[in-house]
Amino acid sequence: MTKAVSGFSKLSKEEKINWIANSHFLNPEEATTILRKYWNSDADLQKLHDEFIENTISNFYLPLGVAPNFLINGKNYTIPMAIEESSVVAAASKAAKFWSNRGGFKATVINSEKIGQVHFIYAGNKEKLQQFINEIKPKFFSETDSITKNMQKRGGGILDIELRDKTAALENYYQLHATFETKDSMGANFINSCLEQFAKTLKEEAQKSTILSEEERDIQIVMSILSNYVPNCIVRAEVSCLVSDLKEDKHISQEEFVEKFIRAVQIAEVEPFRAVTHNKGIMNGIDAVVLATGNDFRAVEAGIHAYAARNGNYSSLSHAKVENGVFTFWMEIPLALGTVGGLTNLHPLVKMSMEMLGNPSAHELMQIVAVAGLAQNFAALRSLTTTGIQQGHMKMHLMNILNQFNASETERKLVVKHFEKHTVSHSAVVAYLEEIRK
Ligand code: MEV
Repeated sequence: MTKAVSGFSKLSKEEKINWIANSHFLNPEEATTILRKYWNSDADLQKLHDEFIENTISNFYLPLGVAPNFLINGKNYTIPMAIEESSVVAAASKAAKFWSNRGGFKATVINSEKIGQVHFIYAGNKEKLQQFINEIKPKFFSETDSITKNMQKRGGGILDIELRDKTAALENYYQLHATFETKDSMGANFINSCLEQFAKTLKEEAQKSTILSEEERDIQIVMSILSNYVPNCIVRAEVSCLVSDLKEDKHISQEEFVEKFIRAVQIAEVEPFRAVTHNKGIMNGIDAVVLATGNDFRAVEAGIHAYAARNGNYSSLSHAKVENGVFTFWMEIPLALGTVGGLTNLHPLVKMSMEMLGNPSAHELMQIVAVAGLAQNFAALRSLTTTGIQQGHMKMHLMNILNQFNASETERKLVVKHFEKHTVSHSAVVAYLEEIRK
C-alpha cells in the first residue's frame, strides 16, 4: 500500500511524476520514461493539455479516425471519430457507404431546449409560495440581464421558469424548473450562472416578501445545477429504402434479412439485457464523434440512457419497420452539444474535427452525431443477424494481437495473408506466429 501524500497539487509536474514513479512502480525509471514518452515536444501544446485538468502527469492518447462518405440530408461528410475499439470506424464507414447508395441519412432536430433547476426546501403554505414566485418572476429575468445579454443577441436565453411542487416525493421539496435555449453552445456555464443568480434572487426576495410569513421567508436553497436529462433537446436520424434495394449479401435474401433485422430491434425494444448492448453499439458511434468534437460524452451518455428508460423500462433507442415494401430504420435521441465554447476553442484536434465537418452549428452537429449512432447500430445488427459479430471484430483485432507479440513487418504480412482464409482467434494467431517463428 502506498503512503498518503499531502499538498500533491502544489508540487511541480516533475515532483509529481517523481513521487508517483517512486511510490507506485517497481521500476520508477521505466515509469518515468513512459510518462515522458507521451508528452508533446511542443512545450506550448503540452502546457495547453497540462492545464485542461489538475495533476496532469502525461497525455492519454486515443486514435482519431475518420469515416468518410456519410451522406446526410444530401450533404457529404467525413466524420472524425476518437475511439479505441478496433472495429467501430470500419463499421461506420461500411454503413455510410451502404446508405450513400440508397439515398443517404435524413436527420432533423426536433427541438433544442435545455433544462436547469434550483432545488430548495420550503416549509410553508403552497399557494402563498406560488403567489410569491409569480410576483418575483420578472426579477429572475432582470437580475440575470448581464449573464443573458450576449446569449440573447445570438437568439438564445431563458425560455421559462416555473415552480414545481415535489413535496409528494420528498417533504417540503420544491424546484425552480427553468428552460433555456443556448444556440451553438452546450450552455452548461450559462445555465449554471443563471441558476445561481435565480437562487440568490429567490433567497433575497423571500426575505423581504410581504406574501410570506416570517417563518415562510426562510427558504433553504439546496443546490442550483443544469440537468443532463434533456428530453426536449431531440434529434431524429433515419434511413429508408425499398426492401428490394437492400440486397448485398449472397448468403441471405432481402426478405429474410429484413425480417431478422426487425426481430433484432424488437428484441432490444422488449428485453433490457439486449437493449443495453444494442444501445451500447449506438453509443460506440455517438461517443466517438462527441469526443472528437470536444463535447461532454458523460453528459451525453447519462442523458441518452435516462431517455432510453423514460417509459419505466430500459429499451432500444432505435426502431425499424417495413411498410408498403419500404424498410425504415430510425432513432430519436436527446443530445445537448456545443460547437462554440469549452474545448471547441482550445483543443487543436477538436478545431480540426470541426473544420472537417464544415464548422457545423450545434443543430447540424446533433444531426451528424445521431447519424453516426444509427450507422453504428445498423452495422452491428447487420453483422449480428448475418455473419455474426466476431468475424469482423476479430479481423480488426488482429493488429492488436500482432502488436502484443511485437510482430515484425514480414510476420505481419504472412499472418494477414494467412487469416484472409482462416478464422481469427487469439489462440489461432498465437499458434500461427509460433509456427512461422520456428
Ligand atoms: C460492441 O462494441 C457493440 C455490439 O455489441 C453492439 C450490439 O450488440 O448491437 C456489437
